[in-house]
Amino acid sequence: MSKPRILTIFGTRPEAIKLFPLIHALEADSRFESRVCVSAQHRSMLDQVLSIADIRPDHDLDLMTEGQTLDELTARALTGIGKVLDEEKPDWVVVQGDTTTVMAGAIAAYYRKIPVCHIEAGLRSGDIYQPWPEEVNRRLVGTFARLHCAPTQTSADALLKENVDPACVHVTGNTVIDALKWVTGRIEAQPSLASGLADLEKRFAGKRIIGITSHRRENFGEGIQNIANAVKRIASRDDIAVIFPVHMNPNVRAVMNEQLEGLGNVALIEPLDYPHFARLLDISHLMLTDSGGVQEEAPALGKPVLVMRETTERPEGVEAGTAKLVGTDTETIVREAEHLLDDHEAYALMARAHNPFGDGHSSQRICDLLAAG
Ligand code: UD1
Ligand code: UDP
Repeated sequence: MSKPRILTIFGTRPEAIKLFPLIHALEADSRFESRVCVSAQHRSMLDQVLSIADIRPDHDLDLMTEGQTLDELTARALTGIGKVLDEEKPDWVVVQGDTTTVMAGAIAAYYRKIPVCHIEAGLRSGDIYQPWPEEVNRRLVGTFARLHCAPTQTSADALLKENVDPACVHVTGNTVIDALKWVTGRIEAQPSLASGLADLEKRFAGKRIIGITSHRRENFGEGIQNIANAVKRIASRDDIAVIFPVHMNPNVRAVMNEQLEGLGNVALIEPLDYPHFARLLDISHLMLTDSGGVQEEAPALGKPVLVMRETTERPEGVEAGTAKLVGTDTETIVREAEHLLDDHEAYALMARAHNPFGDGHSSQRICDLLAAG
């Protein structure tokens, strides 16, 4: 009997980070034939991950265009992935998370009655506009996936509440912890992989570093402007410095460059590759973010994280006490950041390592589930 052919499909930086450990595991596992298709919904931010993880896709649709719209991107992803599926005829399609590529890849598979394995299944904020459009993307995939790999019991429970067949729901942990452990190990073995921040570390010596990321679509406009104003206010203190790798979305870049460029305590830098971002997490006193992945990584490293969103589909970090939702109001962000900077007890309460999102063995569990069919 031939081995099951597993086609893993992804398109953006976070999907690549959370899928490379699984692709490594599938490739090393003689039970499978592993194939990889990237939509390249992201280009350079995806390539950074492919390069460090040494993933060579069998198909690269090279979809990204400058300032792409959701409908154009969805149409191109659906037709492009459809053609790959007709050629590859996989036994399983694996997708991760909630981007346009995930939604389009899963629908293209469903149209061909190919079973879908959804990694990071069951995350729900309960609000279809926060995060937007991700909440609806993952709910859609949840309606027809054959295998739902929920990172936590909370996400598994959300699926069961939606009447998903319990036999198809498994708590696997989140592969982001596999990725984080892998990259930490690589840096330990070869420190030069993450030594590119040395000049900034020297420039900001003696100051506490705040790491910042921001890119959420629902924050475009007023939210991003408020975040920029908050960063400006926080960075006016001389005991702190901000390192801000700016997402390549032009809606983020335009505002952050205009508002923050040239400020003495602020380093606006290009997106970091994964080892350097791990280094930034390591040297940061505190993270301010609206990212999904950073909300999972920061608790694992015991880094307090202020989440610049009104809701989160990742309540586990908040429940564990390492993350706090602060929304996108300038005053609130500044107040909460200053509270942690000035109140050592409050800081110490948050700065404790927790691992609600996984133990670093999620990829192996997912391989075993795929093998069991
Ligand atoms: C996308 C996902 C979002 C995910 C985020 C992770 C959707 C709708 N959005 O948002 O769920 O959280 O990625 O970062 O699926 N760009 C570049 N180079 C890159 C990447 C992006 O120049 O390597 C620019 C391009 O102009 C592109 C724009 O950013 O058109 C937007 O990219 P897109 O993938 O549509 O949205 P993101 O905001 O990146
Ligand atoms: N990340 C990175 N370089 C950066 C910023 C983030 O490698 O400059 C990583 C981060 O460690 C996390 C992932 O990218 O694993 C998060 O991606 P992003 O915030 O773009 O998307 P989200 O998680 O919000 O979907």
